[in-house]
Amino acid sequence: MTSTEDLRGKVADALRRSRERSTTLTESVDDDELVRQHSKLMSPLVWDLAHIGNQEELWLVRDVGGREPVREDIDHLYDAFQHARADRPALPLLSPAETRGYVREVREKVLDVLERVPLEGARLVDQGFAFGMIVQHEQQHDETMLATHQLRVGAPVLHAPDPAPATRPARREVLVPAGEFTMGTSTEPWALDNERPAFRRQVDAFFIDTVPVSNGDYLAFIDAGGYDDERWWSAEGWTFRKQANLVAPRFWKRDGDGWVRTRFGVVERIPVDEPVVHVSFHEAAAYAKWAGRRLPTEAEWEKAARFDPATGRSRRYPWGDEDPGPEHANLGQRHLRPAPVGSYPAGESALGVRQLIGDVWEWCDSGFEAYPGFAAFPYREYSEVFFGGDYKMLRGGSFGTDKAAVRGTFRNWDHPIRRQIFAGFRCARDVLPDEAR
Ligand SMILES: [Fe+2]
Repeated sequence: MTSTEDLRGKVADALRRSRERSTTLTESVDDDELVRQHSKLMSPLVWDLAHIGNQEELWLVRDVGGREPVREDIDHLYDAFQHARADRPALPLLSPAETRGYVREVREKVLDVLERVPLEGARLVDQGFAFGMIVQHEQQHDETMLATHQLRVGAPVLHAPDPAPATRPARREVLVPAGEFTMGTSTEPWALDNERPAFRRQVDAFFIDTVPVSNGDYLAFIDAGGYDDERWWSAEGWTFRKQANLVAPRFWKRDGDGWVRTRFGVVERIPVDEPVVHVSFHEAAAYAKWAGRRLPTEAEWEKAARFDPATGRSRRYPWGDEDPGPEHANLGQRHLRPAPVGSYPAGESALGVRQLIGDVWEWCDSGFEAYPGFAAFPYREYSEVFFGGDYKMLRGGSFGTDKAAVRGTFRNWDHPIRRQIFAGFRCARDVLPDEAR
């Protein structure tokens, strides 16, 4: 059992880490670039920063702390439900200097609230939940801001060391045996409403790849004319493929006989051993069909990640119950790219599957639905209003995701046409009759 003082320290540490990242992402460009919209898909960076502060004020200063509002007058400007991303640059937003002052003032009050409020009793504060929710919110926007950096045009401003080379596991795929497993969680203290509650889920036997699909794998699909062959695409995917004139992952460009890509302002050859990233769900599904395979469902992904056949229980993470360390996964913008396929053997799941956490979000062939027994908390707009929409699930986080914002149960969702996010995929397949045990 964590003592309250330990918990306060852990929360303060997580708040500090997220703010350091937000600061790096917003100090690395000048004010002109902060207020500019780099893509219609994204907010200006200065909006993200003030929105981070505003959510923190709403939940931790006003709600948990019971304090007076700091800037009630700006709430509507930074309400994501009131203004679409494309419309945000035209709003009378706080200036970069005002924004920095605002988030600093909010944070000072929050650290004071953290010292004084009980972290038990009411569900909103129990085990620091509301603080954890706000930490995850800031980290999620930090990943969004990283995606804005990837869309920005200009000389590189972000720098990080490359990950080490890797050796692929001997097996290409592993069999996940048929049977029930525990999906979701009722015990993870900072888990969000859509991950709850834990329940037993039956999954038929299937094979899943030990590593994500690499750029080299994906190039074979391109070279085989996969983008021009309607057979591999769903009807919806083919319509999108034609409308958007897709020929390769986003940020790739023809260069003589081969391809190059732009990554945070650097133009480079395509690293064939790295997981493919910046593909839509439709492209992932087309590749899988071309390869004679399919995408895993969300339940299959989670079973491959968490199920331990030796004990029958589900782990917090593929490697066990301990929090992610640098040996387990490529998380936290430590590297500004996915690590080569086969990296992080220490992060392997009990069933022998690697890189489920970190590197690239993985598209799953499931829509966003509530788990049995779902209850919206602390507000409907977190998850419930998105259930049943035109979404596909994304699991496991990317190199841009912080360890506070991903776990074995964490569920992300986006439109199947989205390509600016750090998403790739791995393949699965059914068990053939003559392979049945
Ligand atoms: Fe947000």
